[in-house]
Amino acid sequence: MRQPLVAGNWKMNGSTETIKNLLEGIKQSIDTVSGAEVVVCPPYVYLPGVQQQLAGTAVSLGSQNISEHEAGAYTGEISASMLLEFRCRYAIVGHSERRTLFGESDSRVAAKYAAARAAGIVPVLCLGEILEERERGVTEDVVARQLDAVVALEGIEALADGVIAYEPVWAIGTGKTASPDQAQEVHAFIRGRIAQQCSATAEKVRILYGGSVKGANAPDLFSMPDIDGGLIGGASLDADEFVSICRAAC
Ligand code: 13P
Repeated sequence: MRQPLVAGNWKMNGSTETIKNLLEGIKQSIDTVSGAEVVVCPPYVYLPGVQQQLAGTAVSLGSQNISEHEAGAYTGEISASMLLEFRCRYAIVGHSERRTLFGESDSRVAAKYAAARAAGIVPVLCLGEILEERERGVTEDVVARQLDAVVALEGIEALADGVIAYEPVWAIGTGKTASPDQAQEVHAFIRGRIAQQCSATAEKVRILYGGSVKGANAPDLFSMPDIDGGLIGGASLDADEFVSICRAAC
């Protein structure tokens, strides 16, 4: 059985004040969530503060990115060992915003996956097609290419050490969620592709859905057999909404 996981990706949002309030709200009702793992991924500078505020709770910490390098002259980058100092258990790699706005290639994302894994941080590998690719009918090709870059570098079994997040780019921040059937189809494709090489890894790896998930649509999405939780953007900035999504995953 795969334990459901819900991760909040706060992106570049929040301030010391709003984050304090958000965490207070989450802490007040997180006890009503049992059975699902809950993670929040704040902007880097807030990691130490969030770590302190989450002490004693079951909510884990994740980063939104990670450097593929261990240390050195990489201005503006954050390494795995730095993240470990603040107890980051998870690191998002290859988010579509990193791929499209910051030019991260499949091979660079794979190197980030490897860096996280080598440090004992669980990489959350984001995959997903843009609207034009969906309309051209190449969704599976795109997702396969993104997945295969990691498999080529790390081997199929390395996927069991991570989490996959399918995030169709056209559904991110647009309010247009993939329907449960549309999402399930791609999740099943991803799991099936992994199973072709290693059925144990395919059974074990959690595949999250991301893209305009809300409290209202989460139950239907999470009821699909290959959807093991969600990677949540906008709705993770609202404590009540986030907790209701977490509850839907239990
Ligand atoms: P939204 O939930 O705001 O669509 O964002 C999804 C996302 O990109 C999470 O990583």
